[in-house]
Amino acid sequence: MLRHGCRVAVVTGGNRGIGFEICRQLSRLGLHVVLTARNESSAKEAADRLQGEGPGLVMGTRLDVTEDDSVSSTFTEIARRHGSIDVLVNNAGVAIDGPALHRAAAPNFPLVDETLATNLYGAWRCSAAAIPFMLGRGYGRIVNLSSTMASLELALTPTSPAYRISKASLNMLTRVLAAELEGTGILVNAASPGYTKTDMSPDATRPVEDGADTPVWLATLPGDGPTGGFFYERQPLAF
Ligand SMILES: NC(=O)c1ccc[n+]([C@@H]2O[C@H](COP(=O)([O-])OP(=O)(O)OC[C@H]3O[C@@H](n4cnc5c(N)ncnc54)[C@H](OP(=O)(O)O)[C@@H]3O)[C@@H](O)[C@H]2O)c1
Repeated sequence: MLRHGCRVAVVTGGNRGIGFEICRQLSRLGLHVVLTARNESSAKEAADRLQGEGPGLVMGTRLDVTEDDSVSSTFTEIARRHGSIDVLVNNAGVAIDGPALHRAAAPNFPLVDETLATNLYGAWRCSAAAIPFMLGRGYGRIVNLSSTMASLELALTPTSPAYRISKASLNMLTRVLAAELEGTGILVNAASPGYTKTDMSPDATRPVEDGADTPVWLATLPGDGPTGGFFYERQPLAF
């Protein structure tokens, strides 16, 4: 059982990349972090690597965001064990429809389905599972890891249609949830981490420390912070 009164943050896809760094930064800020990963041993090993990084505890738990049956029961178990769910960072994501694989005019729908299953439905499912616990305490921060590639205003190239559409849909989910939850104490925002060096973007040079900064800022907003926004480097980004 966690120390009473500390904020509890659930991070999806926390075993590597930007998600792992988000867990590290939240722990350093004193939140208790439930680092989730779709592989149980990956979750435990990653959580172990973060022990002692900050005042917050880090616990590893298995969570595959595409599993309709288990997501809700996993969130219920997290809330039971740790007393609350105050923060949800929907970080888990896939980018599997690179330029050579298909185009919008000749779509590979299995790739589209797989992308939406994680990037849109996964985040939606986890949000729906966490919100009842947040409503119960009148406090919540939901952060959706989006992408500049989702911006309708900025994205004018045809590459990775499934990824772009999944993240643009995630942005709309952010707006809809924020509107629905207005006045409840739950703030819902989307963040672009920027083109960040991880397994997903091995050619990038931006360090994960920078990619995680805006999501962590949104995860720890004060009560009068924004909701329904889309941010990069803590500044509003064009939808
Ligand atoms: N890196 C960039 O340049 C960039 C730019 C814009 C947006 N983003 C977004 O930022 C987020 C993190 O990206 P990243 O670069 O850190 O990617 P990454 O290194 O590829 O890590 C992706 C994470 O998502 C997890 N994941 C995938 N499917 C999952 C599922 N069904 N259930 C639970 N976890 C799942 C992976 O778990 P496994 O280890 O089990 O595969 C991994 O932990 C993503 O949403 C991505 O779209 C990244």
